[in-house]
Amino acid sequence: MLFHSVSLKKNICARIKDATHLFFYTFLKRKSYLRCVKVCLVFGLRFKGRDIISIKDFTHEEIDYILNIAAAMEPVAKSGSTMLQGKILATLFYEPSTRTRLSFESAMHRLGGTAIGFAEAEIASVRKGENLADTMRVVENYADVIALRHPLEGAARLAAEFAEVPIINAGSGAEEHPTQALLDLYTMKKELGHIDGLNIALVGDLRFGRTVHSLAYALSLYDVKLYFVSPELLRMRREVLDTIGERIKFEETTSLDEALPKLDVLYVTRIQKERFPDAAEYAKVKGSYKIDASALRNAKKDMIVLHPLPRMDEISADVDSTSHARYFQQVWNGTVTRMALLALILGATD
Ligand code: NCD
Repeated sequence: MLFHSVSLKKNICARIKDATHLFFYTFLKRKSYLRCVKVCLVFGLRFKGRDIISIKDFTHEEIDYILNIAAAMEPVAKSGSTMLQGKILATLFYEPSTRTRLSFESAMHRLGGTAIGFAEAEIASVRKGENLADTMRVVENYADVIALRHPLEGAARLAAEFAEVPIINAGSGAEEHPTQALLDLYTMKKELGHIDGLNIALVGDLRFGRTVHSLAYALSLYDVKLYFVSPELLRMRREVLDTIGERIKFEETTSLDEALPKLDVLYVTRIQKERFPDAAEYAKVKGSYKIDASALRNAKKDMIVLHPLPRMDEISADVDSTSHARYFQQVWNGTVTRMALLALILGATD
């Protein structure tokens, strides 16, 4: 009744888009709010059935739309919902993961769906030699959507060619991690109110770290300045620089000192030891950046420190209690962002 006319629905959606959902949540009954979110999802039908392989497949407008739905999912995540009742997510993880897999599964459960899958390819039929194409043709019979993590670049794209159900790339080798980029953007917007105008440093392993590749592509759709801080050996991939260089300004440097006072976001990453072809090369760059509380003395008061986790020694424990630390909040933000994606892809409307 409340959302009877289309114009009223659009009006409500526009308000959610403006992130005034909290205001709405306060003044509308929970049930009405949920209906409101679902109406917005109807307008998101262009996402239904879509694969999420690379962040490059998304426009600025689409990313903003996902972030707004993620914001609308905050209260839904806390209260629970039956939006995806009867739907099944398969998480196929051929590489280790704690956060991403649990985050997807938690997101699915919070929307009333269920999750199946494996976290250890060694115990699955893969060990018997089953190829990825066959695994996809089998698993599509069990699930409505598949989240895939694989050590090979291009694996998610290949899987999408064989599976009838949507594939979500949950990490493809050193190439990309699009859902992490979305939750990183969501965190920046939630914490700082906007993305345009920010000075952002990506620090650490910019060569083998897939999160920074997706994040740099995504940020290049906004009006930002990027600082790529890494050892010479781990510089940002050429193909990423070539793509983003047409759109935004960036600087490459080995030292954080000069950029630090200008930064709004310090995004720190782990050196990806497992992706080094040679242990001697890893030894040269191991422990290149160690950010501790004293190193942040020159930072802006409201600068935030992000990290996709897991961290090794690149952020000391004493940073955790500073006002800058936001890496544990990122984990929650991952859940609501993935809720938004799952609801959109599966076309949750009722
Ligand atoms: C990252 C990954 O798997 O690429 N972790 C994550 O998904 N949160 C980062 C990393 O492993 O260093």
